[in-house]
Amino acid sequence: MGSSLRTLFFLTILFRTHFSLAEDENQFIYNGFNGSNFHVDGVAKIHPNGLLQLTNSSKIKMGHAFYKVPISFNSSSSALIPFPSFSTNIVFAIVPEDPNLSGHGMAFTISPSMDFNQAVESQYLGLFNISNNGLSTNHVLAIELDTIENTEFEDIDDNHVGIDVNSLKSFESAPATYFSDEQGKNISLKLLSGDPMQLWIDYDAPQKILNVTVAPKRSQKPNRPLLSTPIDLSQVLLDTMYLGFSAATGSVASDHYVLGWSFNKSGPAQSLELSKLPPLPPRRKRSQKPSKIVIVAPVVAIFVLVVVIGAVYFIRRKKYEEVREEWESEYGPQRFSYKNLYIATNGFKEKELLGAGGFGKVYRGTLPNSDVHIAVKRISHDSRQGMKEFVAEIASMRRLRHRNLVQLLGYCRRKGELLLVYDYMPNGSLDKSLFNNKTPNLSWFHRFRVLRDVASALLYLHEGWEQVVLHRDVKSSNVLLDADFNGRLGDFGLARLYDHGTNLQTTHVVGTVGYLAPELTKTGKATTRTDVFAFGAFMLEVACGKKPIFQGQYEEVILVEWVMECWKGGRILDASDPKLESDYVTEEMELVLKLGMLCSHSVSAMRPNMRQVTQYLDGSASLPEIEADISVSMSTFTTSNEASETAMSFPASVGNCSAHFLSSNESILHKGR
Ligand SMILES: *[C@@H]1O[C@H](CO)[C@@H](O)[C@H](O)[C@H]1NC(C)=O
Ligand SMILES: *[C@@H]1O[C@H](CO)[C@@H](O)[C@H](O)[C@H]1NC(C)=O
Ligand SMILES: *[C@@H]1O[C@H](CO)[C@@H](O)[C@H](O)[C@H]1NC(C)=O
Ligand SMILES: *[C@@H]1O[C@H](CO)[C@@H](O)[C@H](O)[C@H]1NC(C)=O
Ligand SMILES: *[C@@H]1O[C@H](CO)[C@@H](O)[C@H](O)[C@H]1NC(C)=O
Ligand SMILES: *[C@@H]1O[C@H](CO)[C@@H](O)[C@H](O)[C@H]1NC(C)=O
Ligand SMILES: *[C@@H]1O[C@H](CO)[C@@H](O)[C@H](O)[C@H]1NC(C)=O
Ligand SMILES: *[C@@H]1O[C@H](CO)[C@@H](O)[C@H](O)[C@H]1NC(C)=O
Repeated sequence: MGSSLRTLFFLTILFRTHFSLAEDENQFIYNGFNGSNFHVDGVAKIHPNGLLQLTNSSKIKMGHAFYKVPISFNSSSSALIPFPSFSTNIVFAIVPEDPNLSGHGMAFTISPSMDFNQAVESQYLGLFNISNNGLSTNHVLAIELDTIENTEFEDIDDNHVGIDVNSLKSFESAPATYFSDEQGKNISLKLLSGDPMQLWIDYDAPQKILNVTVAPKRSQKPNRPLLSTPIDLSQVLLDTMYLGFSAATGSVASDHYVLGWSFNKSGPAQSLELSKLPPLPPRRKRSQKPSKIVIVAPVVAIFVLVVVIGAVYFIRRKKYEEVREEWESEYGPQRFSYKNLYIATNGFKEKELLGAGGFGKVYRGTLPNSDVHIAVKRISHDSRQGMKEFVAEIASMRRLRHRNLVQLLGYCRRKGELLLVYDYMPNGSLDKSLFNNKTPNLSWFHRFRVLRDVASALLYLHEGWEQVVLHRDVKSSNVLLDADFNGRLGDFGLARLYDHGTNLQTTHVVGTVGYLAPELTKTGKATTRTDVFAFGAFMLEVACGKKPIFQGQYEEVILVEWVMECWKGGRILDASDPKLESDYVTEEMELVLKLGMLCSHSVSAMRPNMRQVTQYLDGSASLPEIEADISVSMSTFTTSNEASETAMSFPASVGNCSAHFLSSNESILHKGR
């Protein structure tokens, strides 16, 4: 009796282990994920055919999929239970929206938690955010398949495989290549090709070596790994970890897929059964090439046809003519063909016109044969002078990547004209939302988020890149709203690049009246502090729903000074936008108004820098106690003649706050500059 019970028990165990292989914590294999018990979030989903899709063509999104059973990586120092070796084999595919434009990439991830709610998309790959990136308390190992060169994280190129330990700044990385045993050489692999590929990750715990290998789907595992890195993972991982994938899209999206996955702690991961893997969805249709017309007809007809075709060809060539010079060849991928832009914007029809500004007109469009929506800015220019420098600048601006910047995608040149191609922002510019007379207006929730968005974009421009980038024209009409009403800073037309640490050279003043710091109008020198000044004016604009210089009852009123009067009168909240109908968080409104004043300090050294501004806004630092008597002033144009001409003394009264404006010893606004 006892022995047969034991047999039954043994059989049960055997049965269990045999059939629940996919739920075992030491090994599992998925040739497709149909019916699997995965934790998926974000835009990730498992298709009925078993294909795991992490992201789709939605922009600025992330997706995760994790094996629900935690895996034990016992890192205790006991020699009896050493940290395990492990081995995994993955088949993945990355399908970009457009062959030259892609989302950010994906990563095999080992993490203590499946909760990535606080993580950020775009360059953060859905793994970290600005405040926890790089912290050793993350205990995250990720193998990234990165398709965008991000200078912020010192990426080597836009097609690499990296080992990320707690940080997106890779511990080690290499351009995606595989070693061909037959040919005895490395062959490069285009991650964005859209074709399925294999990834192997093998960790040898006794030797403390992590190997990462990639190859096309049908290849054998190459004998030599791409990366073979000494690393002690027992110092990184915790006892209990979750395994899975993360992927993210940015301004442009890619579909990130996982087709199959095996994992093993007790030996090499089994190879996947390629024939059983789910197929990828059919590629988006590219329009057919026009078929050649075969003509069998009398010679005369052919002759007429040739003439007509010739004429059409000539006209078309003229119509799509571009200027392209030798030195531009290195900017190949950044270059858009005029023909494509012409087709994208329906021939630059008025219907597609999004706006017109000092620099030219902006049109909406959709790139042919894709879903990529773009905005095309046409700027006329007369001289070729400086064009080379300008294009070089554009090329480097294209490498600026931040979720709160309007992405510059590329450019095109024609005679007398330059076209800049940007990511399309469906909700238009912020000033349109702020100053339309609709009530309720853009909510405080969105306004406050936009302020934080723009602050983080400016911080990135100032500190997050290899060079200091000054924006020089921060204002609500240069802030655009994406599909989810996130704020994105746009228009780098005026930005100039400076090397870190070098003296900022003097150039003529650019910017917009009302946002120009006093020292800028005097010296013409733009600095990060003059950007902060403009950001201060912008903050007040968003909080008060008024332009930096607005029409009061009797006279033009300077917003900062008016807010200052409200503050001095102990009624700072009276400055808030009436269109909000008092529907705001009082502490946030007060913070924004006071911080806006502080940024508008007429002494540049008294203004906070963008890092401090972001800390105040996200609450990680509290605003220092400031008195309501700081010296604020708008741009002054103080040649004594002008001063006496424009000096006026008017008690301006707007709402409940009155201010005494423009007496000769106060700041002078020179209208119309
Ligand atoms: C992407 O997936 C999400 C969630 O499944 C869905 O809401 C969204 O519409 C999808 N986007 C596209 C472009 O298919
Ligand atoms: C996927 O699983 C469901 C049930 O879980 C089943 O109805 C369906 O036929 C399966 N599809 C494939 C392609 O195996
Ligand atoms: C890790 O190993 C130690 C003994 O060295 C043991 O006490 C502990 O329970 C183990 N932890 C897990 C999660 O297996
Ligand atoms: C970043 O993520 C961490 C933990 O996931 C969270 O505590 C923190 O608030 C996040 N920070 C930001 C700025 O979102
Ligand atoms: C890692 O790669 C090295 C170098 O090719 C090789 O000697 C070693 O056996 C590999 N280790 C594992 C666990 O695959
Ligand atoms: C192949 O690539 C690996 C990894 O990047 C590198 O170490 C090796 O030197 C390359 N071998 C050849 C023959 O180029
Ligand atoms: C794990 O390794 C063992 C020993 O080599 C092997 O028998 C088993 O099939 C492997 N399992 C998987 C899922 O790779
Ligand atoms: C992609 O870039 C290459 C040059 O790098 C260019 O030849 C090709 O036409 C581009 N493709 C598209 C669709 O723009």
